[in-house]
Amino acid sequence: MKKELSLLCGWMRTSSNVVVFTGAGMSTESGLPDFRSANGMWKNVDPRELASIRALNTNTREFYNFYKMRIEALEKAEPHDGHFILANWENKNRVKHIITQNVDGFHQKAGSKSVSELHGSLRISRCQDCGREYSAKKILERDFPRCEACSGKLRPGVVLFGESLPLDALEIADTESSNSELFIVIGSSLEVSPANYFPVKAKNSGARLAIINLDDTNMDDYADVVIRGKTKEVLQELDHMISVRPSF
Ligand code: APR
Ligand code: ZN
Repeated sequence: MKKELSLLCGWMRTSSNVVVFTGAGMSTESGLPDFRSANGMWKNVDPRELASIRALNTNTREFYNFYKMRIEALEKAEPHDGHFILANWENKNRVKHIITQNVDGFHQKAGSKSVSELHGSLRISRCQDCGREYSAKKILERDFPRCEACSGKLRPGVVLFGESLPLDALEIADTESSNSELFIVIGSSLEVSPANYFPVKAKNSGARLAIINLDDTNMDDYADVVIRGKTKEVLQELDHMISVRPSF
């Protein structure tokens, strides 16, 4: 891993436009499960049965139980050192933007400012009928939470399966991917589209592609470097290497 880390460290030093792309593997070390690895949330569950508009309407109790469990877990979790390192790199102009599939808001909570959330946020909820916005905690208040204004069903502020992604986040992610010189994927299986289009877009626009992930991904052969390691450890190691002046 040392060789790959020093390669990536060198590219970070010489690139003036670094974009980071994160997935659920960025937050597992904060105690939030991911979706597709060994004990991921989708292991024994078809997400369309739980995380879709159809589930909200036809599987309502399970839908709310699933999201109440995730909102309560989020209340007890915090960003880890890896999130703070990325925020610090933004501060030092080492990272220009973070595109995240995560809905935990940990990048912003750790201090990152330029973040596009492709799959929305689990920190807010919204009325399915009139769109009125509430805190996610509103969903915890009742078995079947309703909108105060129109009594419509409340749903978490995340993109549900079958819904389109927020246009503003897509546009920002597209621009940042096209302009990046170095595109670093951290903790994603890269299985889900259209999110998994951005590493390809970056590479096709001339960027180097780095993947930091515990398991293999189907884009590993396409990457310029693959680092098989744990997010927090790899980011701490990279941060150390970058802060030590090269001795020549
Ligand atoms: N360090 C490094 N990699 C890790 C770690 C860790 N501590 N923990 C997990 N991983 C890796 C796993 O090996 C896995 O390949 O992170 C990856 C997470 O992949 P997924 O569970 O598929 O999560 P993600 O890629 O973010 O899924 C995308 O799918 O269901 C939707 O909306 C959901 O945003 C999510 C999207
Ligand atoms: Zn309403």
